Amino acid sequence: MTVESEALDKIREKCKSCYKCPLGKTRTNSVFSGGIPNHKLMLIGEAPGYWEDQKGEPFVGKAGQLLDKIFACVGLSRKTDVYICNTLKCRPPDNRNPLPEEKAACREYLDAQIEILKPRIILLCGGVAVQSMLDGATGITRVRGKWFDGPYGSRMMPIFHPSYLLRNDSREKGSPKWLMWQDIKEIKKAYDALE
Ligand code: URA
Repeated sequence: MTVESEALDKIREKCKSCYKCPLGKTRTNSVFSGGIPNHKLMLIGEAPGYWEDQKGEPFVGKAGQLLDKIFACVGLSRKTDVYICNTLKCRPPDNRNPLPEEKAACREYLDAQIEILKPRIILLCGGVAVQSMLDGATGITRVRGKWFDGPYGSRMMPIFHPSYLLRNDSREKGSPKWLMWQDIKEIKKAYDALE
């Protein structure tokens, strides 16, 4: 992955001094990526929150800890298997949803990450990532767990955002947590089938 890592590092540097939208002025750190650059599995989240902004790493708060647990349930880890990024690289104030103009300004970084890595599986984590990557897709509840054709021959699957799971504690059949369990098992199956 060295060539890819070098290419990604260049864009990470560009991102650090990006002021294409007003979030450049309010961020503590830009949050470019986490996990490991690889050709198999990428997860796209929404935007950095408080802890991500503080540390410059995606998914390091409560939602991130749950995400790590979900991956661990099927033997996957951000240390060895998953590249993690977001639709926005800077934190929106008060964790509000990204604005269309912020997403548009930031899109070149996400597109570059996808183009450089050409991941075979892309997980769209939450409604904001779904809106960014799936034209005309409706609510996350309708599309989660389904495969969609993605860029560079990839397959994309929308999954619930871990923050949503934190707000919905039930594990009963049909609950968001139960559905996530079905999805992560399907994702692991597809991951294992990659050569
Ligand atoms: N939520 C996200 O969507 N991304 C992060 O990096 C953290 C929380």
